[in-house]
Amino acid sequence: MSENIETTYNYRVVRQFAIMSVVWGVIGMLVGVLLAAQLAWPELNLGIPWLTYGRIRPLHTNAVIFAFGGCALMATSYYVVQRTCHVRLFAGRLAGFTFWGWQFIILCAVLTLPLGYTRGKEYAELEWPITIMIAVVWIAYAIVFFGTLAKRKVEHIYVANWFYGAFILAVALLHVVNGASIPVSYLKSYSVYAGVQDAMVQWWYGHNAVGFFLTAGFLGMMYYFVPKQTGRPIYSYRLSIVHFWALIFTYMWAGPHHLQYTALPDWVQSLGMVFSLILLAPSWGGMINGVMTLSGAWSKLRSDPILRFLIVSLSFYGMSTFEGPMMAIKTVNALSHYTDWGIGHVHSGALGWVGFITIGSLYYMIPRLFGKVQMYSTKLIEVHFWTATIGVVMYISAMWIAGVMQGIMWRSFNDDGTLTYTFIEGVKATYPYYVIRLCGGALYITGMLVMGYNVAKTVIGAEAVNPAIPAPTLAHA
Ligand code: HEM
Ligand code: HEM
Repeated sequence: MSENIETTYNYRVVRQFAIMSVVWGVIGMLVGVLLAAQLAWPELNLGIPWLTYGRIRPLHTNAVIFAFGGCALMATSYYVVQRTCHVRLFAGRLAGFTFWGWQFIILCAVLTLPLGYTRGKEYAELEWPITIMIAVVWIAYAIVFFGTLAKRKVEHIYVANWFYGAFILAVALLHVVNGASIPVSYLKSYSVYAGVQDAMVQWWYGHNAVGFFLTAGFLGMMYYFVPKQTGRPIYSYRLSIVHFWALIFTYMWAGPHHLQYTALPDWVQSLGMVFSLILLAPSWGGMINGVMTLSGAWSKLRSDPILRFLIVSLSFYGMSTFEGPMMAIKTVNALSHYTDWGIGHVHSGALGWVGFITIGSLYYMIPRLFGKVQMYSTKLIEVHFWTATIGVVMYISAMWIAGVMQGIMWRSFNDDGTLTYTFIEGVKATYPYYVIRLCGGALYITGMLVMGYNVAKTVIGAEAVNPAIPAPTLAHA
């Protein structure tokens, strides 16, 4: 079949999002490294207001979640939906609009956050005009994605699309409900909710941003790219359906675990804890489904660094979804909350799961998008894998130790009821761990820079598709 891939599928927008995911990944993580350095040496803000910790912290979270993660999710969902539905993307121009609109929103974030404009809601900081723009681009994204599904030539909807679809719908709902604000000027607004209701809505949003933005969409990647790179069908299709419904049902109720021991009614906190514990089951079901896809082909892990990224991401997913339910138990949360344990948990999910599955999927897609046989250098992927793995392990183990230490120090009492340690003693004891975390982060970003180089060489390299390997066509979807 000699069909031209460019006319069969819309790869242009996929290429754009894929490249920008790498670019924003490097930028967002560099900001993370600066943050980590500032926690060790606060004077690194150089006395410049827009470089201060409070301003660049949301810049980091927005850049890595919505720019790096968001571009990767849009790139892969557009790729997967076309290949599994055997049709070209619906509404090509609208798809182009989602790319440029999303980049414009990211630029607005890059400008407004360091200048100090914020709604003060974590992961929903962007002020009301940008929040409205996000809603518009997101609706366009939904139209393109579901429009493509609607015109599919294959009757069956592959499970990866279920996860992407749930991610798109849930994020729209979360964003609109938590974004509801009353503007008081062009760049200042206040939430329509007040007090404890505001906190509840915020963490219903925050936890489901984890569940749908940082999990469901990336599970879509898992269900497509793990079987593709392994060359085998998913371990159990039945399990994937159970996984889907159980996961999306359970996530919605677990938000209150972010508000243990607060003014939230006690029964709501307990409800959040119980649903968090239940969440372990679908999370591990999904992880097992992904890992077992490799059964009988484990030896591929030795020679294929892309597959290693994909499979190791699943072990981090398993780890963070075991740790999360444990941290949701009230008595454990009494120790872990406010400490760096939380930051360790976040980054085992973010760097290990979200980072690795994205990196593996991009390495799979990029040569195919640019008509190349493979990435410029497999050796450099190998280097990336090891620097990233050592980097994550250093990062999260430093934060786990620091977090448990802080929790224990803060709750130590003398016989007369006074505190054993002052707060500043806890800060001083944490200092070495902040330096270790910085080294871990520096290794991780080094890996990202290696990836940037490898991607650039692949994209601009003169080598075209090997004529012995036919260009991918519908038959190879
Ligand atoms: C080189 C890589 C990275 C480094 C060095 C880094 C560093 C940091 C630092 C220092 C903080 C602030 C911690 C604190 O306030 O105590 C932070 C927060 C955060 N980072 Fe990263 N980060 C990196 C990559 C990522 C990635 C890839 C993601 C997501 C995909 C991510 C998501 C987050 C989130 C969600 C928070 C806020 C956590 C919370 O509020 O509990 N980071 N990061
Ligand atoms: C079964 C799955 C999970 C459960 C039950 C869970 C539970 C928790 C709990 C209890 C906290 C601490 C709340 C606090 O004390 O403030 C937390 C924080 C967090 N988790 Fe998870 N977690 C899960 C999976 C994940 C995954 C896979 C990721 C990332 C991809 C993630 C990202 C985060 C983030 C970003 C925070 C920090 C929120 C903040 O305070 O800013 N979680 N999670």
